[in-house]
Amino acid sequence: MARLKVAVLISGRGSNLQALIDACADPDFPAEIRLVISNEPAAPGLHRAESGGIPTAVIAHRDFAARDAFDHAIDRALAAAGIEFVCLAGFMRILGDAFVARWRDRLINIHPSLLPAFKGLHTHERALAAGVRFTGCTVHFVRPAMDDGPIIAQAAVPVFPDDDAQRLAERVLAAEHKIYPMVLRLFAEGRVKITSERVRITDFIPTAATCVLNPIL
Ligand code: GRF
Repeated sequence: MARLKVAVLISGRGSNLQALIDACADPDFPAEIRLVISNEPAAPGLHRAESGGIPTAVIAHRDFAARDAFDHAIDRALAAAGIEFVCLAGFMRILGDAFVARWRDRLINIHPSLLPAFKGLHTHERALAAGVRFTGCTVHFVRPAMDDGPIIAQAAVPVFPDDDAQRLAERVLAAEHKIYPMVLRLFAEGRVKITSERVRITDFIPTAATCVLNPIL
């Protein structure tokens, strides 16, 4: 079985990268990470890649006068490594329209909210301020607008009365680490179809309809 050749783009901690590395460590997993690119030379996630024996590249946005040139450098690195599919995992730069178009439907992102709620930064603070009873995370196709694009999978987590942003972030992060590898597997198995900007997962049997309550009285 040929494994899907994946690159992961990071800017920082890389805990989602780690979840993907761990999933790919299983020889039966249908994808492999061939390259990790960071725009931040000091990103701790680079060490995770190195420990996993994965080639890394630092492409620092500060070294480029224009975004196009930065995007091109990333594109060249992806091409040189024979990359077929790209996962953004805490990558804190906006990629230009041309790059996004070139990688259309082969470029996904994970965001720590139930999109389309709470696009952008400080999602957990904003979820707490809004008083929502559930928040979560979303894996979606990347489109030119930030945190926009067809939704592939979401995980919902409850918000509890004494949560602060950090506790909530930890709960959401644990869910991120479950759904990102799950989505990568679905892609590598060829089970993610997109038509008219709506995503369908093939060979998927919905479990019995459930209603999740918070609070439970
Ligand atoms: C995650 O919360 C992810 O959803 C967001 O940035 C954070 C990255 O964390 N896009 P890590 O670097 O994967 O630990």
